[in-house]
Amino acid sequence: MKTLDVTSAGGTYPVYVGRGILKDPEALAKYLPFGKRKVLVVTDDGVPSDYTRAVLSVCPEGEIVTLPAGEGTKSLSSFELLLSRMLDAGFTRSSAVCAVGGGVVGDLSGFAAACYMRGIDFYNLPTTMLSMVDSSVGGKTAIDFHGTKNTVGAFYPPRAVLIDCDVLKTLPARQMSAGLAEAVKMALTSGATFFSLFENETLPAWEEIVLRSVAIKAKIVGEDEKEAGLRKLLNFGHTLGHAIEAAEGLSGLLHGECVALGMLPMCSPAVRKRLLPILDRLGLPTAFPKDTDRMFSYLTYDKKRAGDKISAVFVDEVGKGYLRDTTIDALCERVTEYLASTEGETK
Ligand code: GLY
Repeated sequence: MKTLDVTSAGGTYPVYVGRGILKDPEALAKYLPFGKRKVLVVTDDGVPSDYTRAVLSVCPEGEIVTLPAGEGTKSLSSFELLLSRMLDAGFTRSSAVCAVGGGVVGDLSGFAAACYMRGIDFYNLPTTMLSMVDSSVGGKTAIDFHGTKNTVGAFYPPRAVLIDCDVLKTLPARQMSAGLAEAVKMALTSGATFFSLFENETLPAWEEIVLRSVAIKAKIVGEDEKEAGLRKLLNFGHTLGHAIEAAEGLSGLLHGECVALGMLPMCSPAVRKRLLPILDRLGLPTAFPKDTDRMFSYLTYDKKRAGDKISAVFVDEVGKGYLRDTTIDALCERVTEYLASTEGETK
């Protein structure tokens, strides 16, 4: 088991990364020291029930809430349901919430923990590659509100994050690829050596990908927890990615797939040349949706926009992402030029 510490305004918390922890009750009890406390174990119906049962074995006073899988669960009604369950079961300030799932479960449960009685302990066991490498670390919790993503939330660091890479064995291949897009994002902006590992014939072991991603994230959020500057680097690929996601709607691409596409126009041609074969190898898309006008219209809703200005992340050199103010028009032009330059090349 490896431990990486993450510093936040409220103190330092550990991110434990290893394998087989969920099958080892003694280790689990050490990393999740619930004792006799009441614990709300939150999961979704896409997560194998063995994982939550393992967590329950170390908290006899725990109760499981299983929500429907999908972004729709990051809602005010799910939030209310979690709070009601805690209130009805007599949860106090010394009780805890434990998420067992992907980013949706983690964000929602963390926010419920942040709000119940002004904040109770929150533990996170991410079960997807995306939540392991990104969303479980850094203390961002939120729900979606009135059709807008993550509008209601709080910075609320967990007590601990416990990552058992063995759970990735049951993760569908497409979900795995989408999560790896976020790891590639970390490497492109902040880890040149890490990036070169993705260029090798064989993909690095899951544990190594998770450890390197968490190390990058820990360093960034340690310096800029509330996203005043440096943390914005983690939004690389997301400005265009969110616009693609919104334009594609429910039937479209996964978040990580949109981020993969969103990174491409933001790279220099030399960086893109190295990125494209990696995305291909990881089974990520490299061709933009045909209706770019629809995507451009969604860009105007980007929350990072102030007037016509938008703050975006660029990568001209692998491992050295940087933030620069630009305009929506300039960004649309950049995408158009990129698409013209790749006509017939990407599939
Ligand atoms: N997922 C980006 C961040 O945590 O800041």
